[in-house]
Amino acid sequence: MKADIRLMVTADGSHTAVNQALDKPYHSIHGAYQESQRVYIELGLLPAFDKFPDTDLRIFEMGFGTGLNALLTAREAQVHQRRVFYSAIDAYPMALEDARQLNYDAFFGTDYLPQLHESPWNEPVDINSSFTLTKYEGNVQDMVLPERFHVIYFDAFAPTAQPELWEPEIFEKMAHLLLPGGMLTTYCSRSYVQRNMRSAGLSVEKHSGPLHKRDVIRAVKMG
Ligand SMILES: C[S@@+](CC[C@H](N)C(=O)[O-])C[C@H]1O[C@@H](n2cnc3c(N)ncnc32)[C@H](O)[C@@H]1O
Repeated sequence: MKADIRLMVTADGSHTAVNQALDKPYHSIHGAYQESQRVYIELGLLPAFDKFPDTDLRIFEMGFGTGLNALLTAREAQVHQRRVFYSAIDAYPMALEDARQLNYDAFFGTDYLPQLHESPWNEPVDINSSFTLTKYEGNVQDMVLPERFHVIYFDAFAPTAQPELWEPEIFEKMAHLLLPGGMLTTYCSRSYVQRNMRSAGLSVEKHSGPLHKRDVIRAVKMG
């Protein structure tokens, strides 16, 4: 089933989508780009480049959505000349006609957006010479993946909208997907979410957030 969304311009000028049924935006309305850059790129991807210097990186994204996190990661992989294999799941992907309206390629000076959305599901596709995307359509709860990952971008809708995605079993699954030393980052710092991460064996760090958000979370699987 495709997502029923409308597009919205956030405070930094970058688009987000708003899920009509949940009435929830896919990103912070204070700045979609600023949020993605802080939570997933600065706290996840860039530290992983340093932490795992001699290997191709494997990244898993919970909630592909607009493809913004994937696009920013493809851009950084190219700049840093690091090979990234990126797997993402979404239960309710955006319709292509909605995705085509997103302003990200114009905003970042890239040309990745059509490929990110139009590439087939369930098979690896090269978006640029450093970045390979595999999208899966389905529920994260039912997902079975044989691989392990250096980084997880955990980008579910807020617990107020989808509490089932922030339960201990989900973080147990995420912890299982992480390689030793691997990192999960997310924008949500609610204390019960931190507790659920800890009970899954992750070590939880609080970091300063983007504008208008005090704390965001990086959880590390001890090696
Ligand atoms: C906050 S948005 C993700 C934003 C996205 N990372 C981006 O950069 O645009 C949450 C996403 O999770 C997806 N989703 C909702 N329930 C899901 C589930 N049970 N399993 C997998 N994906 C789900 C939604 O369709 C939506 O695209």
